[in-house]
Amino acid sequence: MPPLRARARAHPNVALVKYWGKRPGTHNIPAAPSLSVTLDGLTTVTDVRFDAELDADRFVLNGQPVDDVRISACLDRLRTRAGSPLKAEVDTHNDFPTAAGLASSASGFAALVTAVDAALGLGLSPAERSVEARLASASAARSVFGGFVALDGIGSDSARWFATPLEADPAWLEVVVAVNETETKPVSSSEGMRRSALTSPFYNPWLDETRLDFDLAQAAIAGRDFERLATISERSCLEMHAVMMTSSPALLYWNTATFVCMHEVTKLRAAGTPVFFSIDAGPQVKAVCERGASAVVARVLGAVPGVLDTRTVGLGPGATVEAP
Ligand code: PMV
Repeated sequence: MPPLRARARAHPNVALVKYWGKRPGTHNIPAAPSLSVTLDGLTTVTDVRFDAELDADRFVLNGQPVDDVRISACLDRLRTRAGSPLKAEVDTHNDFPTAAGLASSASGFAALVTAVDAALGLGLSPAERSVEARLASASAARSVFGGFVALDGIGSDSARWFATPLEADPAWLEVVVAVNETETKPVSSSEGMRRSALTSPFYNPWLDETRLDFDLAQAAIAGRDFERLATISERSCLEMHAVMMTSSPALLYWNTATFVCMHEVTKLRAAGTPVFFSIDAGPQVKAVCERGASAVVARVLGAVPGVLDTRTVGLGPGATVEAP
C-alpha cells in the first residue's frame, strides 16, 4: 500500500542557454535544448495527500486556493500511471515571488511530481520524473536535478526529452537575484512562446543559434572558462529577449531596473569582476558570478533604484522527498 501522502522540496533554476519555443504537438517538447543551473536558497515545498474522501482535487498555493489546469493534468497523468482513482490535496509554499520570472513553475512542478511519485509509490527514475515535470512546464524538467543540468532529447519522442545532470563543480558559481517586481507576469511563458513562434522574424534563427550555444556552453563549463560561459549565456539571454521583443504584440518583460542592472553587471565585468546577467520571462535580473564575487555584485545591484531585494544563492540540489 503506498503512503498516499508525501512532501517534496525543489529549487528553481536559471537557464544559461535559454529555451523559448515548443515543437508542434501536445507533449510540451522544447524546440531546442537548454542548459541551466539549479539554485539553492529559493525553495518550493509541496505536500500532497491522496484521499478517498475527496471528491475533487484541491490546490493551495501560499495559503490561497488556486485553480490550475496544468496541476490537474499533471496529477491525472501520474494517477493513470499508478492506476489510482484517488483525488488529491496539494499544498505548496514558495519562499520567493510566484510567476514573476523566478521560475516558480520549474521548482513547483519538480516538487509536485516528486511528491506524487512518493505518495503513490510509483518508483519513477529521476529521468522519468523529469519527463513528467517537463510535460507540465519544460523548465521544471531541469529542476529535478541539482547543479549544472542539460535538457535535450531526440526528435518529437516525449519519453526521450528529459534533463540530465552535467559533471561540473557546483561550488564554482553563485547567483545574485535582484528582485525588482513581485507582481505576476502579464503574459505566461506558454502564450509568449506561441506568439513568438508565429510572429517573430527571428524565431527560426534563434533555434539554430541555441543548438550551437548548447554545445559551446557545455565546453565552457567542462573547461571552467567563466569568460566564455559569460559571453554565451548573455548572448542566449539577449537573443531570447530579441525574439520576445520582435513578437507581435511585443513581449516586453523588462522594467527600468532590469536595464540599469544589466548596465551595472556589464561595468562590473569590464572592471574585472567575474559576473554576467541572465533574465527570463519577467524583469528580475539574475547575476551569475564566480564564488567570491557575489558580495560586491549584491552591493552594486542592491543600490539600483527599483531593486526591492537581493538574494545570494549557491547552486543547489535536485528535487527530494522529505519527512513532513
Ligand atoms: O518552464 P516554462 O515552459 O514556463 O518556460 C520558461 C522559459 C524561460 O524561463 C524564459 C527560459 C528557460 O529556459 O528557463
